[in-house]
Amino acid sequence: MNSTVSPSEGVQYSRKNPYFAQLLINKKLTGTGSEKDTRHIEIDLAGSGMRYTVGDSLAVLPENDPELVEEIIRAIGAQGDEQVPDADKQPSTLREALLKSYAITEPPKKFLEVLCERSAKAAEKIRPLLAAEAKKELENFLWGREVIDLLLEYPEAGWTPADLVGTLKKLLIRLYSIASSQKMFPDAVHLTVAAVRYESLGRKRKGVASTFLADRAEGKKFATFVQATKHFHLPENPDTPVIMVGPGTGIAPFRAFLQDRQSDGIKGRTWLFFGEQRRASDFLYEEEFDAMLKNGVLEKISTAFSRDQAHKIYVQHRMLEEGAELWRWLDAGAVFYVCGDASRMAKDVDLALHQVVEKFGGQTPEAAAEYVQQMTKEHRYLKDVY
Ligand SMILES: Cc1cc2nc3c(=O)[nH]c(=O)nc-3n(C[C@H](O)[C@H](O)[C@H](O)COP(=O)(O)OP(=O)(O)OC[C@H]3O[C@@H](n4cnc5c(N)ncnc54)[C@H](O)[C@@H]3O)c2cc1C
Ligand SMILES: NC(=O)c1ccc[n+]([C@@H]2O[C@H](COP(=O)([O-])OP(=O)(O)OC[C@H]3O[C@@H](n4cnc5c(N)ncnc54)[C@H](OP(=O)(O)O)[C@@H]3O)[C@@H](O)[C@H]2O)c1
Repeated sequence: MNSTVSPSEGVQYSRKNPYFAQLLINKKLTGTGSEKDTRHIEIDLAGSGMRYTVGDSLAVLPENDPELVEEIIRAIGAQGDEQVPDADKQPSTLREALLKSYAITEPPKKFLEVLCERSAKAAEKIRPLLAAEAKKELENFLWGREVIDLLLEYPEAGWTPADLVGTLKKLLIRLYSIASSQKMFPDAVHLTVAAVRYESLGRKRKGVASTFLADRAEGKKFATFVQATKHFHLPENPDTPVIMVGPGTGIAPFRAFLQDRQSDGIKGRTWLFFGEQRRASDFLYEEEFDAMLKNGVLEKISTAFSRDQAHKIYVQHRMLEEGAELWRWLDAGAVFYVCGDASRMAKDVDLALHQVVEKFGGQTPEAAAEYVQQMTKEHRYLKDVY
């Protein structure tokens, strides 16, 4: 282990000046019987001069699924070699532009508007949904419905390649929490990626970037850059206790935090809450955390496997079960970190945090709310949720 890497050195890559990286390792973390496909991804940084700090995210510009690209080309009766401008207005072929430049899954509003101009049948169904007051209805209509579905449903729209791409948006980067410390891996960056796969309207769907990394990135160079975190840092004082709540892929930055502390020779004062569906198939990085418990880098781990019993057990239930000790850590000045699902988990964990302060800190609900607010002000309650 060495800690000679300084985050302030190195080459600054950005959206406009990305580093074209290659995959080193793509390993399935979830085992037989899992409902998830979560990958450990390692990306080669050798010779790049790219520097990151734990808590940062990596931006990845994916390529679209070539099978979907071919379906879209077929659906508009094109060949793929037609000349079109790409999303940066540079000359391209239709195939290349659909593969690398345009977002081709979620239908943009402009696509829907032009579709309604080109097909009376589409207009009848979709135009009412484009009204400002029909926002929710439009959202429902679009849930699980992609550009390809609408091209196939309304073939009479008669798209030319240029007209179609003229309605599409630019393909965007996706962010992934960095799961490694560069002190331990100077020439690589690790990610923990849940491949988004689902079925809708009788068709198998793939999340663009997560399945690019899981299925299609091997042997390719893809654009990346570090999105530095403004707030999600380890405490400066290594004696400050660290509580990390990271179910699912929310584990990623905490693996990085622990690696960083291990590289710096810091032991103890770390408590990890991890949750997934099943212990046997979904305990991400179990062996690594076992080793860190043994070598003292990780002081304590509390796990919540939601589907190993009839009723759901989540990380927030473990927080409440361990409330007395959790309160002692908070009272000793611990920093409380949360990473992962923003829509439900982070809200429930926030509620549990309030309950712990109230019940085990002996405070009124108002005082507990104030306490948590104060934690936020003091940068002792930090979230990286998505
Ligand atoms: C700061 C930050 C850190 C992140 N860190 C991580 C990380 O460490 N690991 C990780 O895996 N992800 C992480 N993410 C999420 C990641 O950026 C991507 O959003 C995720 O991988 C999905 O991208 P995609 O391109 O694969 O899917 P997209 O092509 O963007 O598709 C996702 C969309 O598909 C639709 N969809 C999904 N499921 C269904 C369904 N069942 N039915 C109908 N529609 C559906 C939804 O509209 C959803 O928004 C992070 C996000 C942020 C902002
Ligand atoms: N934007 C996207 O398209 C996209 C793509 C990938 C992931 N994500 C999001 O990224 C996050 C991580 O996904 P992931 O697949 O790694 O894990 P996840 O879906 O967050 O699941 C991890 C664990 O959290 C549990 N859980 C469910 N609801 C919870 C709650 N309210 N409070 C606490 N725990 C809860 C799950 O249990 P059960 O499953 O048994 O309920 C599971 O045991 C999620 O937000 C996911 O939606 C988003």
